[in-house]
Amino acid sequence: MLIKVDNLKKSFGKRTALNGVSFKVEAGQIYGLLGPNGAGKTTTIKILTGQRRADSGQALLFGEKVFGRQEELLKKVGIVPEDANLYERLTIEQNLTFFKRLYQCSDELIDFYLEKVNLIDEKKTKVKSLSKGMKQKVLLVRALIHKPEILILDEPTSGLDPASADSLHKILLDLKEDGITILLTSHNMEEVDKLCDRVGFLHQGELVASGRPVDLKLNYSDNRVKVLYYSNEAVEENLVKKTLQLDDPETGKFIAELIQNGRIKSIHSLEPTLADIFVKLTGRNLADDGF
Ligand SMILES: Nc1ncnc2c1ncn2[C@@H]1O[C@H](COP(=O)(O)OP(=O)(O)OP(=O)(O)O)[C@@H](O)[C@H]1O
Ligand SMILES: [Mg+2]
Repeated sequence: MLIKVDNLKKSFGKRTALNGVSFKVEAGQIYGLLGPNGAGKTTTIKILTGQRRADSGQALLFGEKVFGRQEELLKKVGIVPEDANLYERLTIEQNLTFFKRLYQCSDELIDFYLEKVNLIDEKKTKVKSLSKGMKQKVLLVRALIHKPEILILDEPTSGLDPASADSLHKILLDLKEDGITILLTSHNMEEVDKLCDRVGFLHQGELVASGRPVDLKLNYSDNRVKVLYYSNEAVEENLVKKTLQLDDPETGKFIAELIQNGRIKSIHSLEPTLADIFVKLTGRNLADDGF
């Protein structure tokens, strides 16, 4: 287990940020910690990367407690923080060279990753004139040039347009192919569904559900089907959508009739989205937060 968080608790004064959060990330996987503003995502990441100390519980990287040993352990971890903490008045290259010296890594990897994120031609551009998506990519390159085994990203696509987010997703999937273990936070359900092997739903400092996206969807599926049928045989274009419970005998009879009369257009099973499940579990719609 490359990353393990066990019963983490953290309060800031009277405010509880984490109330017993536990999860594990296996080698080679992408794990998504999903939750709205204030859920405790950044607090979890900061504890895992030794920037904060938990009140109780454990945060382990490579099976070892992080706090107190972060300098050693973080040599094998790349971090993309929530805020772009780059030197705005320096160029991309200068930013990365500065970091390279700290970690004593080679120039080749800088160019290799700049090439990969399509920023090689912008090397001499000052960070202050880059777009948000470009800065995010520079942060990613910075997190990779010392060849980490684990990559931890706090909302890597927040504020990016869909095309930039998509290109970042592709890069993350490539990195996974290369064997890097990834932990990311997000409040974008679709992103997490697409990218992650496992997800954890964080709500008010508690992990309210976790598992593979497909299992979560199965668990929370209410076995519904959507039947499209012709409601009036005379007018074939007149389609009516109806959502029905199949285990209900009335419904069975209704569908049998439709089949008999050849009025069925199509039947689809309806699986909930991760967003539906989140609402079901927390009563809270992430879209209400303006995302
Ligand atoms: N330094 C701090 N001092 C006081 N309270 C804090 C501090 N950091 C976090 N909190 C509180 O802890 C809770 C969790 O915050 P955290 O930043 O971990 O949430 P988050 O899930 O990262 O949210 P966001 O999506 O907005 O980044 C919030 O209630 C927040 O106000
Ligand atoms: Mg945060």
